[in-house]
Amino acid sequence: MKELIRKSVLAVSPYIAGKPIEETKRQLGLKEVIKLASNENPLGPSPKAISAMKKCLSCVNRYPDSQNYYLKKRLAKYFGLDRANFVFGNGSDELIDVIIKTLVEPDEFIITSDTTFLEYEIIAQSNDRKVKKAPMLYFKYDLGGMLKLVDKKTKLIFIANPNNPTGTYVNKYEVTQFLNALPKSVVVVFDEAYDAYIDVDDYPDSLSYLKKRNNIIILKTFSKAYGLAGLRLGYAIGNTELIGYMERIRQPFNVNILAQSAALAAIEDKEFIKKTRQLVLQGKAFIYSALSKMGLGFVPSVANFILVDVSKDGVEVFKSMLKYGVIVRDMKQYGLKNFIRVTIGTNKENERFVRVLRKVLTPRA
Ligand SMILES: Cc1ncc(COP(=O)(O)O)c(C=O)c1O
Repeated sequence: MKELIRKSVLAVSPYIAGKPIEETKRQLGLKEVIKLASNENPLGPSPKAISAMKKCLSCVNRYPDSQNYYLKKRLAKYFGLDRANFVFGNGSDELIDVIIKTLVEPDEFIITSDTTFLEYEIIAQSNDRKVKKAPMLYFKYDLGGMLKLVDKKTKLIFIANPNNPTGTYVNKYEVTQFLNALPKSVVVVFDEAYDAYIDVDDYPDSLSYLKKRNNIIILKTFSKAYGLAGLRLGYAIGNTELIGYMERIRQPFNVNILAQSAALAAIEDKEFIKKTRQLVLQGKAFIYSALSKMGLGFVPSVANFILVDVSKDGVEVFKSMLKYGVIVRDMKQYGLKNFIRVTIGTNKENERFVRVLRKVLTPRA
């Protein structure tokens, strides 16, 4: 079979998703399982989104609006931009693919950081495009290091801000310096999947860069704070001409009808986002304190997850926790052998995570 497959596909190491709850219950015969592995919202979707979807259920015999008219209009108002500044995708994952297909020629390069969202490299590989990665500095994107990799063949740069899996961010000052030094022929994507959780003052206002430059794309998603991961909906904001080219090559019905209606309602539920933020901030403080008491290192995070140094094989810790019905993420695929990543859950879930982690790390007498 291999002879039939494109070489670039043979080279791809597939993305390993967080283990689903149902699969864990089935495989381990467990009744109660909690998932803190995919940075989802533990509160569920906003009740407003649920009732919007219920109203829409009888429409699913129809194709969705391929232009996403109402969502574009609502977001344009929200950001003070034009409808033509937005393109939607089946999750922001799809838009990463559309961006690469729109911009990067076969002999051009993509730059990102080590230890970042794996899909940048996986999707680049599947498109037969090459990626150069700058090492992280103290678990943070090293923008200076990335600049050193830029040459005439560089077309695209991905910056996850905040970064997954480290939870760190690059600040206003660093980004301004970086953009000022970067040739205009390079397009920079700021992937802001976790921006709803930011609680620092020096987080860069990427929209202000977009207003001044043509070479910026911002990626956002409804999968995280909005609690709609299962519906798959993300969007890119950019210069209208560039967005127009992306519109040309995306699939015509890539955003389903339920996702469109749920997202429109979710945007209006500001209370839900506020509650989600509070839960995450409180949960992080609780888990930080518990980890410190256990003597474990962790990377302070501005997102809804924490990278924890468990000082032993992370895959073993993941497997041991699974037996107690707690799904976290091992970091083997990211090259962080002794780490796990935990998503902030409800207070009860966080308490259970701490209890189970303590149990699996305590040597038996
Ligand atoms: C940094 C980052 N970008 C994008 C995504 C993908 O989000 P979506 O569900 O919109 O495809 C994720 C999901 O984990 C992520 O961590």
